[in-house]
Amino acid sequence: MKCFIDTADVAEIREALSLGILDGVTTNPTLVAKTDRPFKDVILEICRLVPGPVSVEVVSTNAEGMVREGRELASWAPNIVVKVPLTPEGLKAIRVLSREGIRVNTTLIFQPLQALLAAKAGAAYVSPFVGRLDDVAGYGMRLVADILEIFRHYGYTTEVIVASVRHPMHVLEAARLGAHIVTMPFAVMMQVVKHPLTDVGLARFLEDWQKVPEKPF
Ligand code: E4P
Repeated sequence: MKCFIDTADVAEIREALSLGILDGVTTNPTLVAKTDRPFKDVILEICRLVPGPVSVEVVSTNAEGMVREGRELASWAPNIVVKVPLTPEGLKAIRVLSREGIRVNTTLIFQPLQALLAAKAGAAYVSPFVGRLDDVAGYGMRLVADILEIFRHYGYTTEVIVASVRHPMHVLEAARLGAHIVTMPFAVMMQVVKHPLTDVGLARFLEDWQKVPEKPF
């Protein structure tokens, strides 16, 4: 399973890269706004830092505008993936951009048929938002399972990015289901990396190490 980070914060991306497990980045307008930096500056810096795909979202709501913005974003760096919401206009834009060889990540997916349509239109990725569904008493991971099952039936190569991840159990379930990618906020990534019992166990070993005679280091 590939691990992406869901952030536009360059410090978080650098730290995630240093862990050696980072395969890509997803951003959205909310995440970029949090950085309080000019849009193009921050996106170009991320694209230089990360060799893998960097998803960047269009903000037009009609197909023509989405296609125009998507083409422009794709021209900024070879690793940019254009993020398009699954609306009727978005669907039209996905087809046009995909046919031009521009990779599209379809965002704001909340039911499996939206993912099926995105795959039919040629999207490289679909992003089911599991946390936002759970927030309204839905079942986010069921959505992921349904999408994976549908894609298997028809042999779609569209990759599933488990998005809107809130906690390590979403990551574990994504891996158990065989999702291609999970995109995590930095805080969740650190929760996955760290375990309190590992910290307690290490503290005990280091304490006991002090009692070992004639230590070589
Ligand atoms: C995915 O690509 C989105 O950027 C993201 O996962 C949305 O997550 P949120 O529900 O925490 O805003």
